[in-house]
Amino acid sequence: MKQEVIDAFNSQISKERDASVVYEALANWCAINEYTGFAEFFRKQAGEERTHAGKLAEHLIDRGVMPKLGALDAPPADFDGLPGAAAAALTHEQANTRGVNETLRIATDAGDYAAMNFLNWFVNEQVEEEVWANRMVTLVKRASCAGSIYTLDRHIVKDLTGEE
Ligand SMILES: [Fe+2]
Ligand SMILES: [Fe+2]
Repeated sequence: MKQEVIDAFNSQISKERDASVVYEALANWCAINEYTGFAEFFRKQAGEERTHAGKLAEHLIDRGVMPKLGALDAPPADFDGLPGAAAAALTHEQANTRGVNETLRIATDAGDYAAMNFLNWFVNEQVEEEVWANRMVTLVKRASCAGSIYTLDRHIVKDLTGEE
């Protein structure tokens, strides 16, 4: 693999790990504020982002390259209510999309067909991730009273993932 492609993969691995700890922080913040459903949703997301980092690392390993894991920034411990939490999630997904696109651009410029093909999964995945993040922002904005927030929290996992 060309060095610039390896560097791009390592940087994307960092972004996925970073998203994972931000979702962990979001899950903790939601749990302590009694948004149990949101906490569960973000906990699941944290796991997914770890899986994404693992997939990228595996591609490097498959091609004989040792992944480089760097230090991560501490995530925020406080969020500006549920709207702030949803906005933080959307911001991170958008940053992740930019990272995936940039990684694919570098792989394309390098003529690395294996990496290009592999990264297509991430391109599709980011479309899905932005769908739920945008939907979460909209639903939180729409829930204006305590009752509607309570109902939203109870149903958020099923609403955003289709899972019970
Ligand atoms: Fe991801
Ligand atoms: Fe994501």
